[in-house]
Parts: sequence; C-alpha cells; structure tokens
Amino acid sequence: MSGQHKFEIVRQAAPDVSARQRPRSAPLDEAQLLDTQRAFDSVAADYDGPRGNNELIQRMRLTLWDTVHSEVPAGARLLDLGCGTGLDALEFARRGFHVVASDWSPQMVERTQARVAAAGLQSRVTATHLGVQQLEELDGEFDAIYSNFGPLNCAPDLGAVAAECARLLRPGGSLVFSVMGRICPWELGHYVLRGRFKRAGVRAARGATAVGMNRHTIWTHYYLPREFYRAFAEHFSLQSYRALSLFLPPPYLVDFYRRRRDWCERLGRLDDRLGGLPLLRDMGDHFLIVMRRR
Ligand SMILES: C[S@@+](CC[C@H](N)C(=O)[O-])C[C@H]1O[C@@H](n2cnc3c(N)ncnc32)[C@H](O)[C@@H]1O
Repeated sequence: MSGQHKFEIVRQAAPDVSARQRPRSAPLDEAQLLDTQRAFDSVAADYDGPRGNNELIQRMRLTLWDTVHSEVPAGARLLDLGCGTGLDALEFARRGFHVVASDWSPQMVERTQARVAAAGLQSRVTATHLGVQQLEELDGEFDAIYSNFGPLNCAPDLGAVAAECARLLRPGGSLVFSVMGRICPWELGHYVLRGRFKRAGVRAARGATAVGMNRHTIWTHYYLPREFYRAFAEHFSLQSYRALSLFLPPPYLVDFYRRRRDWCERLGRLDDRLGGLPLLRDMGDHFLIVMRRR
C-alpha cells in the first residue's frame, strides 16, 4: 500500500482515516479482512495505472527488484506475498525466476493471471488466491519470499506469517519486504500544513487502523523496522534495512514530483546514498528490509 503503495491510492484519494483503532494485540477479524479484500478488488482494474504505479512507485519497485535479484541464484523459486496486478512477478519471470504469486484479492489475482498469460510466461508464474493469513495452505520450498508495497501491513498476525515463511523457505533463503513505516516526514509535513492533524498522525496508531481507499477500508498496521523485525527474529537474522522515499515525496504526491522533476531527481539520489544510514533508515514512506533464514 503505497504511500504506500498502493496505499498510494489511498493517499491520492485523500484517505479517510477513521478514529477506529484496535489494541496492538487484537488480531484482525474476518470482517476486517473482507473489508481489505473488497478495497483492493475495487481498484484492481486500474491499479497498475498512474495511480498505483507512478514514477515514484516505479523508483521504489526497482530497488526491490535489484535487491531480490542480488539475494538469489539464477532460476530461483520465489514467493510473492500480495502480488497485486503481478508487475513484480512478471519482471522476475522475465529475469528467469519461477514465481508463485499470491494475493488476498481475487481481482488482483485475475489481473496477475492475465498479465502473465499475455506475456506467455505461465510456465514461470503461478498466480493463486491466498491471503498471508492462509500460508499454511501452501506447500513448496522457496529460495526467497518477497512482498512489495505493504501487503504485510495488512497481515492479521505477523508472527504467524514469520513462522510460515520459515517453513516455506530453504535454510539460508531470504525475505525481502517493503513495508509502510511509521515515520514519514513528508507525510507529516503535508498534512500538518493543511491542518489535517488526525491524518498526519495515522502512522502513529497502535494496532490496526482503518485507512480509506475508493470508499472502502483497508485495515493497516504501521511499523518501525525494529517492531517489524521482532516478529521474525526467532527464525530470521536481520541482514539490512533502508528507507524508501525518505527525501523523495511519497507516491501520492507524484504531482509535486512532476512539477519539480530536476529537483526531485536530486532528492532521489539522496535516497539512494543516505537511505541506509542509521536513523535515516528508520524513516521514509516505506522501508525495505532483508532477512535471512537461520
Ligand atoms: C499496495 S498493494 C501492492 C501490490 C503489489 N505487491 C505491488 O507491488 O504492486 C497491496 C496488495 O496487498 C494485498 N493484500 C492485502 N491484504 C492482504 C492479505 N491479507 N494477504 C495477501 N495479500 C493482501 C492487496 O490485495 C494488494 O494487492
């Protein structure tokens, strides 16, 4: 979810963040999972268009592609959690990898299947309707598992996801996740300057928070990198993490980027050079975290 990705869309649609919040320990219930599913079903048709895959998103996407590629051997088996319309799965198929692409939104899975079929790469990508809360239904052994633009922010129980990832990943295999973080200075400034204080503070919420998209609700958890890693620490060592879109604005501010492209290119270079530094890496629209199976 950009802005998260696609929570970008959320932001682009002037998200309606309700005051409803749940205690940190309360898992998302079935109704909330269905809310989130309906929200993504409702945008699947155009999610890889400008709203869901604009220049700022594409820039972050490249970082994940290169990171995954550097983690695995040629021809590796990959699992995509929350594949959306299949942009990443198709790219990895083109690079010669084999991908199981999963998503909780049936409409997103259909988009992925159509994309893969159009490219004639069905032998390399299997798209399946499966939520991250259902990973126990999946078999196989993977060299790496990736998740791009916040699907894991929608996971009801991150510890359960970690245990399933440990089961599905070969020893030494990698996790590469881009996750919506808690501290996004651009977002804070953007909403505070407009007097939208509640919206400015949404990432500080504990537990699942309702974020509006396309008149639906996405139940979202925001994390600091260390909070996120805590759920995986039993089975995985932390390799690295870095900020994505810290100096650059978040994707829903793409109009700002388009008006000041030269200036933003410089900000992008700052992201590339400084986004992995202590403190800075704890901020940004998303963070990219790499872990390894013990
Ligand atoms: C912001 S989109 C990102 C999609 C894709 N990874 C990309 O990079 O374009 C978030 C995706 O997470 C999926 N998602 C939300 N909740 C999920 C869940 N519980 N399990 C699996 N996928 C989920 C949504 O359906 C949506 O496709």
